[in-house]
Amino acid sequence: MDQNHLLADSRGIPWKLPRDAAHFRSYTRGKWLLLGRKTFAEMHGWFDASHTPLVLSSSCGWHPDIGCVVASVPQALAMGEAAAVPEIVCCGGAQTYAAALPYADRMVLTMIEHVYPADTGAVYFPKWNPSEWQTLSESSL
Ligand SMILES: NC(=O)c1ccc[n+]([C@@H]2O[C@H](COP(=O)([O-])OP(=O)(O)OC[C@H]3O[C@@H](n4cnc5c(N)ncnc54)[C@H](OP(=O)(O)O)[C@@H]3O)[C@@H](O)[C@H]2O)c1
Repeated sequence: MDQNHLLADSRGIPWKLPRDAAHFRSYTRGKWLLLGRKTFAEMHGWFDASHTPLVLSSSCGWHPDIGCVVASVPQALAMGEAAAVPEIVCCGGAQTYAAALPYADRMVLTMIEHVYPADTGAVYFPKWNPSEWQTLSESSL
């Protein structure tokens, strides 16, 4: 996200940061991922056999070519628990981060030291209460 917590606008994500992309790929490798239907569609072709995407959607009558559809964050967590999965990584977008944040116990954030111009289709990371969170580590990419 940028300094205004911008995630994307109607043109998509406004930055291309190879080191952050590599960090994202490395952190998510082999994991169960929770993605909103829109982000899942945008990331089509990105997943590999190590990923298990859970696609958050209110319509359950379709089947993604990889992973499965979930109707809620608690459903995704219950599936992860039943499969003894140690972590489910929420990968956005904005609506999905907002739905997942109340259940999250760790945030892995890339904060970009820049403000990007955004159009009316802008979406933002949800607000969080810093007093409820502890910084465990920080690094520059
Ligand atoms: N900068 C970043 O790191 C980053 C990361 C990820 C995504 N993005 C950007 O974020 C944008 C998409 O974000 P978005 O917020 O518009 O969409 P999104 O969260 O990717 O997907 C929204 C869809 O997810 C489903 N959904 C969301 N919350 C739900 C809930 N509580 N229960 C059931 N279904 C739910 C709905 O699907 P149905 O309509 O099927 O019900 C909804 O239309 C894209 O532009 C993408 O590029 C940026």
